[in-house]
Amino acid sequence: MSVDVVVGIQWGDEGKGRIVDFYARDYDVVARFGGGDNAGHSLVVSGKSIALRLVPSGALQPRTELFIGGGCVVNPWTLIEEFERLTKLGVDLQRMSISDRAHVVLPAHIEADHRREMERGSDALGTTGRGIGPAHADRALRTGTTMRRFCEREEFPEARRLAPHVVDGVAYVHERLERGRRVLAEGAQGTMLDVVYGTYPYVTSSHTLAAGACTGLGIGPKRIGRVIGVAKAYCTRVGAGPFPSELHDRDGDRLRERGREFGTVTGRPRRCGWFDGVAGRYAVQVNGLDGLVLTKLDVLTGFERVGIVTRYRENGDVDVELLEGWQDDVRGVRRIADLPRAARRYVDAIASLLEVPVEIVSVGPEREDLAV
Ligand code: GDP
Ligand code: IMO
Ligand code: MG
Repeated sequence: MSVDVVVGIQWGDEGKGRIVDFYARDYDVVARFGGGDNAGHSLVVSGKSIALRLVPSGALQPRTELFIGGGCVVNPWTLIEEFERLTKLGVDLQRMSISDRAHVVLPAHIEADHRREMERGSDALGTTGRGIGPAHADRALRTGTTMRRFCEREEFPEARRLAPHVVDGVAYVHERLERGRRVLAEGAQGTMLDVVYGTYPYVTSSHTLAAGACTGLGIGPKRIGRVIGVAKAYCTRVGAGPFPSELHDRDGDRLRERGREFGTVTGRPRRCGWFDGVAGRYAVQVNGLDGLVLTKLDVLTGFERVGIVTRYRENGDVDVELLEGWQDDVRGVRRIADLPRAARRYVDAIASLLEVPVEIVSVGPEREDLAV
């Protein structure tokens, strides 16, 4: 069997979690392949919001197995807290496994993350403060602690809680593929935060691209099936760094308010701007996207005009194509063909600019708020 991949194609928080939750019903395993608890994925079911950090977003599909791959960095204390919180909500996490090759984020990494951000002063990256960079640095320096080692060492009493879930990660994935199980690889963060192909140095420390699913799960590239990119219908970014389509005007404030653009992990206000078609086309290239999911289209309802950035100029300006907006509520729409005409034109404009079909349009945070 092949492995399908879902990745964010902007600067994170595209709504990957709720889209993975939707796709997960067609898969046997949902496997996180990168990042750590810098991720925050919200699922909204019957008006209740559930925040996931390390646990894969298939958690609310009761029969789906969950896996944290070797490409991830795991803060064991966050994971235990998440286990307890989800278990109280009735989520069974016995079906969760963690690769022995995932690395552990230790308190010293978190301290170092804060210290380095302080030292950078006005050049601070605006990290989530979760020790992500230092944990990856330790892995690259070969001074890190793998999950396997963590569970063997007696000085970590908490390890006993997680040890029963730690498995030979490569064997875990390949056994399932050989048995014909369908595996969905779940990316964290987004393409423009990739440590190599993102807006370096204003990036995270992991490989967030679809290719990261190979190294993050221990599978060859020929195993990859479909690659789906998730994008917001506009753009946001939390933390510092380039953001060519950012709006500093009332439209930006309106996107923030209407889209509730405040970080799930840190509560920081997200920077907001129009859909960035240049970054979108780049993401199609570097991920090899087969399809696109557009989220939060409902947030654009009521704007007189909606913009798409089509070109970056050398002086830092951008070309924006302004399209007619729409006033009708789209929350109840369940078929893309039934969207208001202007909204459909907007979705089509993105699909033709990126040269990728739009498979799903999300029109609200609730599980069923999807137009296909
Ligand atoms: P992720 O990190 O990519 O999983 O995304 P987050 O969960 O961090 O951020 C997405 C936010 O937007 C969450 O609060 C979701 O509940 C919300 N959301 C997702 N899709 C939609 C949508 O179509 N419309 C609206 N209004 N909110 C959405
Ligand atoms: P999800 O999976 C949005 C950003 C941080 C910062 C930079 C580096 O929810 O989409 P780090 O703590 O990783 O060293 O921070 O990356 N960042 C995210 N932004 N969503 C995320 O995850 C993010 N994970 C990291 O804000 O700019
Ligand atoms: Mg998020």
